[in-house]
Amino acid sequence: MDNFIFYSPTEFIFGKDTQKRTGETVRRFGGEKVLLVYGGRSAEESGLIKEITESLMKEDIEYSILKGIKPNPTDDRVYEGIAQAMREGSTFILAVGGGSVIDTAKAIALGAVYNGDFWDFFCGKEKPVAALPVGVVLTIPAAGSEGSGNSVITRLDGMHKLSVRTNVLRPRFAIMNPQLTMTLPWFQTACGAVDMLCHIFERYFSNTTAMLVNGYSEAIMRDIMARALELKVNPDDYEARADIMWAGTIAHNGLCGVGKEEDWATHRIEHEVSAIYDVAHGAGLACIAPAWLSFVAKRNPDMVWRFAINVMGVNPDGLTTEEIIEKGISSLKDFYHDLGLTTSLTELIGKTPDIDALVNSLETNMGKSLGFYVPLSMEDCREIYKSAL
Ligand code: NZQ
Ligand code: ZN
Repeated sequence: MDNFIFYSPTEFIFGKDTQKRTGETVRRFGGEKVLLVYGGRSAEESGLIKEITESLMKEDIEYSILKGIKPNPTDDRVYEGIAQAMREGSTFILAVGGGSVIDTAKAIALGAVYNGDFWDFFCGKEKPVAALPVGVVLTIPAAGSEGSGNSVITRLDGMHKLSVRTNVLRPRFAIMNPQLTMTLPWFQTACGAVDMLCHIFERYFSNTTAMLVNGYSEAIMRDIMARALELKVNPDDYEARADIMWAGTIAHNGLCGVGKEEDWATHRIEHEVSAIYDVAHGAGLACIAPAWLSFVAKRNPDMVWRFAINVMGVNPDGLTTEEIIEKGISSLKDFYHDLGLTTSLTELIGKTPDIDALVNSLETNMGKSLGFYVPLSMEDCREIYKSAL
């Protein structure tokens, strides 16, 4: 295990009806003038926004609204939010939604206190040192942004989807009521399960030895898969919703990566797909993750072998290492198919993707090499895109 600092300062307020505590919690964290950020229609239609605004009013907290944030959020809405926050004198950003809304809120929080272009932080020109405080009411377990220091935004000029990772962006609090996720379309629940699993893959497939971390990471991965399949049959199962919601948070708040070198190649390879073709991030990962696993297993089989046995439940008796790995990856694909997702990029985007465009953009954004479990060249990434077709 490598030396580490684990910093996860977010207060998680979890359980039934917890959204009713939004106003008092914002107040407790010093929010007086709030910029309330949310997405398309789901939070309005469910009555959640009404509940949140009433809760803010009860505490005499002023708010202004930035709504209509779309999946795979773009920089234009961030600029709009920064201008609004500065105009209104907002002191707190409240995100009600999932990764796209929370990431937009975080980017606004950075830009509102910076005397320059917020994109400087995403393209690596500047390191963040300050941000307005961000609070979250989570409506979809997936991206893990409610407990992470990450924000992922697409720049419309060039469709560059880039992220920033900094502790200053960790939300002050996250209100997590599993009941709020019962209105999710099945596709979004499924994509969320794929994304949270992959957040663990990025940390689990590592050359660092960390037996305890590997053990609980495997338990969380098994639970995500079991709960997702239960929810497919019974989407209103509160216990399964609760498990999967908490799993999404601990998959990405750093707990599964402590003391380990993290990889992140799968995410970077996927981000090009969701940026260029505007598909759901989890749906893109269902195509890329098995292709990545098959590729890296040829050069570094150890953890893929362990994953096949301990997570995918392959019985190793009488099988060679290659056979165990093949069965493990094929069971993972079966799981994605059981969720109703495709593992083919061509099927996902409805045409053959432009691999040159994907690789060129990846190289522009990430340089010539990515990943650590097996460092990948751009030619390796091209192979991975091809085998995901
Ligand atoms: O816009 P509305 O109407 O709210 O619909 C949303 C949206 O269409 C819907 N939804 C959310 N909660 C709902 C609901 N529908 C019904 N009932 C509810 N309770 O779900 C759709 C997807 O929402 P989105 O926020 O896009 O989903 P997700 O949480 O998967 O976020 C994806 C974004 O996060 C980024 C992804 O790249 C993508 O841009 N990521 C962010 C990370 C981070 N900040 O740490 C890490 C991840 O790896 C990821 O890259
Ligand atoms: Zn992800």
